[in-house]
Amino acid sequence: MAQALKKLSVQVLKNNNVDQIIGCSALRASSTWWCNVEMGPPDVILGISEAYKKDTNEKKVNLGVGAYRDDNGKPFILPSVQKAEEVIFKKKLNHEYAPIGGEAAYCQAVAELAFGCDSPMLKEKRNCTVQTLSGTGALRLGLEFIAKHYAKVPEVWMPAPTWGNHPQICNMLKLTHKQYRYYDAKTHGFDLKGALEDICKIPEGAIILLHACAHNPTGVDPKPEEWAQLSQAIKSRKLFPFFDMAYQGFATGDVDHDALAVRRFVQDGHQVTLAQSFAKNMGLYGERVGALTFDCGDAETAAKVMSQVKIMIRTMYSNPPLYGARIVTEILSDAQLKQTWLCDVKQMADRIIDMRHRLRGGIEGAGNKQQWCHITDQIGMFCYTGLKPDQVAKLTKDFHIYLTKDGRISVAGISSKNVNYVAEAMHKVTSS
Ligand SMILES: Cc1ncc(COP(=O)(O)O)c(C=O)c1O
Repeated sequence: MAQALKKLSVQVLKNNNVDQIIGCSALRASSTWWCNVEMGPPDVILGISEAYKKDTNEKKVNLGVGAYRDDNGKPFILPSVQKAEEVIFKKKLNHEYAPIGGEAAYCQAVAELAFGCDSPMLKEKRNCTVQTLSGTGALRLGLEFIAKHYAKVPEVWMPAPTWGNHPQICNMLKLTHKQYRYYDAKTHGFDLKGALEDICKIPEGAIILLHACAHNPTGVDPKPEEWAQLSQAIKSRKLFPFFDMAYQGFATGDVDHDALAVRRFVQDGHQVTLAQSFAKNMGLYGERVGALTFDCGDAETAAKVMSQVKIMIRTMYSNPPLYGARIVTEILSDAQLKQTWLCDVKQMADRIIDMRHRLRGGIEGAGNKQQWCHITDQIGMFCYTGLKPDQVAKLTKDFHIYLTKDGRISVAGISSKNVNYVAEAMHKVTSS
C-alpha cells in the first residue's frame, strides 16, 4: 500500500489532476502501520466448519473437523475427566503461576504414559520434559529449540502427506522441510519400500518427523515389524527422530500399544524428541495441554537443555496454564481414575472402529464395485477415502456432507444415525 501511494502521488503531481489529489489524501488518511500485511489464506478445516454451519439442510454431516463426537454427534466429556474435575474442585486450589516448564508431577506422569514407567530414559533422568500448549505448542517449541540450538542447520523431513500445520510451523521458523514417501495411493496403505528408499537418501543429522500412531490425514500406520525396519534405516542414516503423538490410545484403544513406535525407538538407542497432546485422548481440546520431551543422552545434558527450554518458554508465554494439566495429573496419578480413563479411551476408539465397519459395509452392501477395505484397515480418527476432488465436491453439493478436498474424513463425525446416509452418498458419488 505504501508503494502504491508513492506511485500514485508521483502520478498526481505529474498530471496535476484535482480528483486524483482528493483520492490520494483519502488513501493517506486510511494508511495504517499494517499497510504491508497481505491477506492470508483461510484455515482449510475452519473454512469447512463455517460452510457446514451455514448449511440449513437437516441431513448435513461434518466430517471435516478432527474432534471426537459421541453417537449423537455431540462433543464428549469423558467420565474420567468429569470425575477429575470434581476432585480438583473440592481441593479448592489456588491460581498461582505454574513453574515455567509445568508442574513436576505432571511432567513425570505424562512422560511415563508415553515412554512406560520402566523406561531407562526416565530412570536415568536423561529426559527434559515440559508442559506445553497442547500438541501444537510442543511441536512449535521443539522445532524452535532445534532451530536455535541444534548442532547443525537442520532439514526437517516429514511424511507425504502430513498434518498441514507441520510444514507451516517450519515455514514460520524458516526451517527447510522436505517429504519422504509414506502413503501409497494405489493400495491406500503404507509405502514401506518408498519410505525406506527415501530415508536412505536423507542427509545425516536431519530431523525426521514421525507420527507415532493414527497418522493424520491418512489413518495409515506402519505395522510393528515395519517400525522395526524404519528404526534401523533411521539409525543407520544417523537421523534425529521427532515423534508427534497427538492420538495415543485413539488408534487401537490401548495407550501402551499406541506408544509402541516411540518405545521401540528409545529401546533401539535413538535419542528421540516427542510432542504429546491430551486434546483427543482426554477430550481436552480447548484446555491446551500437552508436553515436549527431549531425550538428551545423559542427566547433565538434560539439565542444560532444560535451562535453555525454560528461557525459550519464559520469553514466549512465561508459564503454562494450570487447569488442563491438573486434570491430566489427577487422572494419571490415581489408579482408579486412570482405569476409568483407559476405558473411556477404548470406548472412543471402539466407536470409531465400529463406524469404519458400518461405513464400509454400507458402501459394499449398496453394490459398489470399488475396493473399500482401506476404510477398516486404516486406523484412528481419520480415513483417507481415496475420493477425488470432484467426488468430494459432489458429496458436499448434493448430499451436504463436508470434508477436506483430499478426501479425508473424520470417522468420529459418523454416528449410527448418519452412517447409512454417508455410505449411500459415497456409493453414489463413486459409481456415477
Ligand atoms: C498430527 C497432529 N499433530 C498435532 C496435533 C495437535 O493438536 P493440538 O494442538 O490440539 O494438541 C494434531 C491435531 O489435530 C494432529 O492431528
